[in-house]
Amino acid sequence: MNANPNNCCAAPEAEPTATTAAMPIWLIALMLVLLFLGAWAFDRRGGWFDPKVYGPYVSIPDVERFHPPAAGGPPPQGRKLFEANCALCHNTDGSGKPGQAPPLAGSEWVLTAGVNRLIRIPQVGLSGPIQVKGQEYNLNMAGMGAPYSDEDLAAVLSYIRNSFGNKAALVAPEQVKKVRAEIGSRSQPYTADELKSLPE
Ligand code: HEC
Repeated sequence: MNANPNNCCAAPEAEPTATTAAMPIWLIALMLVLLFLGAWAFDRRGGWFDPKVYGPYVSIPDVERFHPPAAGGPPPQGRKLFEANCALCHNTDGSGKPGQAPPLAGSEWVLTAGVNRLIRIPQVGLSGPIQVKGQEYNLNMAGMGAPYSDEDLAAVLSYIRNSFGNKAALVAPEQVKKVRAEIGSRSQPYTADELKSLPE
């Protein structure tokens, strides 16, 4: 006789029972990582369901980068302001007027890589000897751009950089704002030599 009944006949297998178990911490971490990646991808590429965002563009900044502004150039008020306030001396076609103002067309002062010097000219004025396209001038220009808003000054400078055969990057209102902050309350016109000592 066998004293231990288990040795003889195995007891029938117990019914499976459901028990609770703590969720593994790695699974929670994985879910959080996936959620984060999903949100990040949507944020970067989803365009927030904006109908303007469609392939091959993946986000609103992407669309803006590849689509130039409707006019493809300076804001329209640039031309109006130029013709009302600058053309009197610099001429409607930017060719300048003898004895009154040097040309803006092809001017090395307009077609600069940066706009740090350029913004200062209409803001404060310019006086004394200056070389423009190999020719010497010695006149005075007042700071007639000072009352303009940042947007308007940026627009008129963008206009002269992209008219009369000129082609250069547009000027942003933020750039005007920054340079204006550096100029402060100065009202004394610049000289060409002084501008040259500043970064372009
Ligand atoms: C009353 C006449 C007059 C008006 C109006 C005028 N300018 Fe000038 N501008 C001048 C003169 C004169 C000079 C050269 C100053 C010197 O000889 O130092 C000059 C120089 C310049 C220069 C640098 C030199 C060059 O030819 O590239 C720029 C840029 C310029 N002006 C932009 C403007 C803009 C933008 C406006 C309108 C907001 C404007 N000017 C309005 C007379 C004028």
